[in-house]
Amino acid sequence: MHEKMLIKGAKVLNGIIDVQGAKNATLPIMAASILLKGQTLTLENVPDLYDIQTMANLLRDLGADVKFDNHFMVISVPDVLNSEAPAELVRKMRASSLVLGPLVARNGKAVLPLPGGCVLGSRPLDFHLKGLAKMGATIDLNHGAIYATAGRLKGCRISLDFPSVGATENLMMAATLAEGETYIENAALEPEIINLADVLRSMGAVITGDGTNVIKIIGQDRLCSAKGEIIPDRIEAATYLLAGVITKGTVTVRGIDAKYMDHILAKLIEAKVSVNITDNEITASWNKSLKGVSVKTMPHPGFPTDTQPQLMALLTLASGTSVINESVFDSRLLHVNEFKKMGAKIELQENVAIVTGVARLLGATVQASNLRAGAALILMGLAAEGETTVCDLHHVWRGYENLVGKFLSLGADITLMD
Ligand code: EPZ
Repeated sequence: MHEKMLIKGAKVLNGIIDVQGAKNATLPIMAASILLKGQTLTLENVPDLYDIQTMANLLRDLGADVKFDNHFMVISVPDVLNSEAPAELVRKMRASSLVLGPLVARNGKAVLPLPGGCVLGSRPLDFHLKGLAKMGATIDLNHGAIYATAGRLKGCRISLDFPSVGATENLMMAATLAEGETYIENAALEPEIINLADVLRSMGAVITGDGTNVIKIIGQDRLCSAKGEIIPDRIEAATYLLAGVITKGTVTVRGIDAKYMDHILAKLIEAKVSVNITDNEITASWNKSLKGVSVKTMPHPGFPTDTQPQLMALLTLASGTSVINESVFDSRLLHVNEFKKMGAKIELQENVAIVTGVARLLGATVQASNLRAGAALILMGLAAEGETTVCDLHHVWRGYENLVGKFLSLGADITLMD
């Protein structure tokens, strides 16, 4: 796996990109297969990403058989699964925590080493654990792992302190096999939650209210084999639209419904970007100049935190001042220092970045600190004059399929280095 790329910047990008399946829908849906016993879950439009391979290996370690080829995945789940997730895989990816709810629900036991993954601040699992405890699980924390045990989980009313995506997903999955009704209040509204609920319903789960802030689940004794399809990745789509605009070009993303991206597109239009929408394509074009905008990241349908670094990259070249408030994570502004190495003018005040537009960016050697920061640094390198080397690319391969191929098809000059 290459860790460095050399970008020769200031090339105008133009072209069409086919959007991959959503990483953040695929991971919980793969974990949902754990709820099956002696059955299979078949998935279409699965993106080929490092995180997907990690989750597949995690399921294999638990005892499932996972076949994955050309975006088509078949997960065959035996009657008996192990209850302990392997530490080295869990540490690689925080989304491993999504096996917790399904394992407790189907095995009555789960052992989860404390997860790793992107460094985005503390990222505890307290909402997940509190919800499972309320459903009757006993939760112990020792030796750096979570030990959860339960008889059959009992449905109940759970009110989340924050509309956490992962907690909503873990508890929704656990509730599908619980006894009685579960209500998850203040649930996350992300499109990936609805995709997960659709797949769970195809497995026989009884779920209503997904996509609203109260999700009702009526527990079943068992679920059944099913087929599911992964929705398109709205964050990948936004990244390529921004790549076109930041290089003064025009990029169309194909196979995405604009309903997933209302807030992102509204911000682009506010920044004077030309946006054209059809029923499954979105085109964004640079239009003579860019106007600074202010944004606060929020849970869906607000502006997604996963697009904050990429939008900030664009705004470093916008006229005037932009105020970017990262309110979802307590440490998702590590890319600011790397942006400043390229000539961006940014002042940090706690979780707020004040960006003053500059006329041009200059190539430099920069480091990716997490998946979306890495993507944003690539956008900066594509726009900058001269050469940019982006290091620590392992973060980027976690979430972007065929990234170099897609950028080369748009006219970028990118070389991978060992
Ligand atoms: C999901 O992470 C996504 N990952 C993230 O995408 C995304 O940024 C995030 O949702 C917000 O949209 C996947 O879906 C695999 P949260 P998750 O629970 O579930 C705090 C990417 O780049 N919190 O909604 O971990 C937490 O610390 C990744 O693709 C608690 O305090 O996000 C954070 O500040 C990065 N206690 C906030 O809530 C908890 O028990 C939102 O976290 C859980 C979360």
